[in-house]
Amino acid sequence: MRVAMIGAGYVGLVSGACFADFGHDVCCVDKDPTKIEALNRGEIPIYEPGLAGLVANNVREGRLSFAGDLSQAVKNAEAVFIAVGTPSRRGDGHADLTYVYQAAREIAAAMDGYTVVVTKSTVPVGTGDEVERIIREIRPDAEFSVVSNPEFLREGAAISDFKRPDRIVIGAEDERSKGVMTEIYRPLYLNQSPLLAMSRRTAELTKYAANAFLATKITFINEIADLCEQVGANVQDVARGIGLDNRIGSKFLHAGPGYGGSCFPKDTLALIKTAQDHDAPIRIVETVAAVNSQRKRAMGRKVVAACGGTVRGKTIAVLGLTFKPNTDDMRDAPSIDIITTLQDSGAKVRAYDPEGMEAATAVLTNVDYAKDAYDCARGADALVIVTEWDMFRALDLTRLKAALAEPVVVDLRNVYRPDEMQRRGFTYMSVGRA
Ligand code: UDX
Repeated sequence: MRVAMIGAGYVGLVSGACFADFGHDVCCVDKDPTKIEALNRGEIPIYEPGLAGLVANNVREGRLSFAGDLSQAVKNAEAVFIAVGTPSRRGDGHADLTYVYQAAREIAAAMDGYTVVVTKSTVPVGTGDEVERIIREIRPDAEFSVVSNPEFLREGAAISDFKRPDRIVIGAEDERSKGVMTEIYRPLYLNQSPLLAMSRRTAELTKYAANAFLATKITFINEIADLCEQVGANVQDVARGIGLDNRIGSKFLHAGPGYGGSCFPKDTLALIKTAQDHDAPIRIVETVAAVNSQRKRAMGRKVVAACGGTVRGKTIAVLGLTFKPNTDDMRDAPSIDIITTLQDSGAKVRAYDPEGMEAATAVLTNVDYAKDAYDCARGADALVIVTEWDMFRALDLTRLKAALAEPVVVDLRNVYRPDEMQRRGFTYMSVGRA
């Protein structure tokens, strides 16, 4: 199959490279000439494990190429995926569809022969209808279908999520486009990944419902963690105790500083807005979003409490800045609110993150950056683990204690065991554990 991928961002690049790896002929298009030049030099603009090798192999095999202009790629393609950004619109939280509609107009002008136009970007219900209307207006004569095919990729695990998905959701309104999509995903279908066909609007909503449900699950366990702290219970045991119930499932029950990233905060907000606009408010998700955003600053106050009620004039070491490990993504990372809360309370912050420090400099001010975890701890009055990078899971505790001015550790990811930390002489606080 000949595929054009519009948008060589996170989703576009991962999906494009994986489709090429299935054997399809893929051209990834992006308007940013510096990105295309970098990709053509073999440089990958984002940090995602395995992606550089996958791109290089498929470029070498001649199945993957990059272009700054979409006309040739779209003209050749049987399927054109729209994988451009849908940021939160400033002010109201609605998904900003400017880039999606712009892509639709350009695709309309360039397509040749029957073309399936697929929205992969996360878009509110009804966006596919509007994409279809736009294309039809520009090309009343054209033969095309508009399909929704949402992605469920986790950053840091995107390639395996793409190649071994729990399911593939196809929102198609006609058999012909369903046939093309089935062909594109055939390699996965042979691996018995379930391919779910549904209406286009249903597929669009499924994506938001999935992310809102996962955000709710995390927020639920976070609130149970707060209660555990008050009543002397252990949230990890509670999570295991409920998670082994098949109806609940054990994933996404890790208590922590609150969810962040490019999807959950933005998608919950967009779902809330869509639901309100359609007079079917989803109050549980409204509460989840509010609880989660309050939680991040509350984690800053938790650190202040661990420091005896004040951090004025103190140095706090922060390990981990990105919203989760194995990414350099700082979007809506809890570290931002935690660090600003500490700074507002008069603390000096020194931080270390293996991949996120460059991106952090754009969103944080007055932070000193360290060269590793021990350098970060040096002379600090407390150490906070915000992101559970593997390299923070087995720190040399003797060395760490010697580096700190005060042996205070606030572990917001429950990486260490309270009994061991106490035995080692640390004042140790974690999440939802006595
Ligand atoms: C998510 C979805 O998982 C993916 O399917 C979707 O398409 C895009 O959004 P991603 O944002 O990359 O992926 O990360 P994910 O691993 O889901 O984590 C999101 C946030 O939740 C992170 O901040 C993470 O630390 C937090 N989280 C996750 C928890 O606090 N506890 C958990 O148990 C799981």
